[in-house]
Amino acid sequence: MLEDRLTIGEVAARAGVAPSAIRHYETLGLLTSERTSGNQRRYARTVLRRVAVIRAAQHVGLSLAEIAGAFSRFPPDHAPTKRDWARLAREWRPRLDARIRELEQVRDGLSMCVGCGCLSMRQCAIYNPGDELAAGGAGARRVFPQVGGSQQA
Ligand code: FES
Repeated sequence: MLEDRLTIGEVAARAGVAPSAIRHYETLGLLTSERTSGNQRRYARTVLRRVAVIRAAQHVGLSLAEIAGAFSRFPPDHAPTKRDWARLAREWRPRLDARIRELEQVRDGLSMCVGCGCLSMRQCAIYNPGDELAAGGAGARRVFPQVGGSQQA
């Protein structure tokens, strides 16, 4: 019954996203497809609803990993319902509230930076909020994040 399924181009056009995004979502397990005998993807129409939920969740700042975690509770070809979306929105609210608080802290720290431009590792709340880079050890943490506490070649 692949005849009533959508091609990746049809899904992309109807969902308003690039075909590469559809492939990426599928790689992450957010979408599933079947393959034709010619190895072309075919999607159930329910995939459009899943893409709509993915885009809406991304729009409010959720990561694809967070969305994948939520989708893992659904069967692979399940189209999230209004009730599903309401439940997801309730579950994500604390995460969004935390993100809003983080952004408010960034905004408040920004006022300290206006007219400054120092990007000091010690005092700049935007460049190094809460001195997070210190936890990674000594050295140029942004340039060599994979290096341990001591400098290595
Ligand atoms: S740029 Fe100087 S404190 Fe942020």
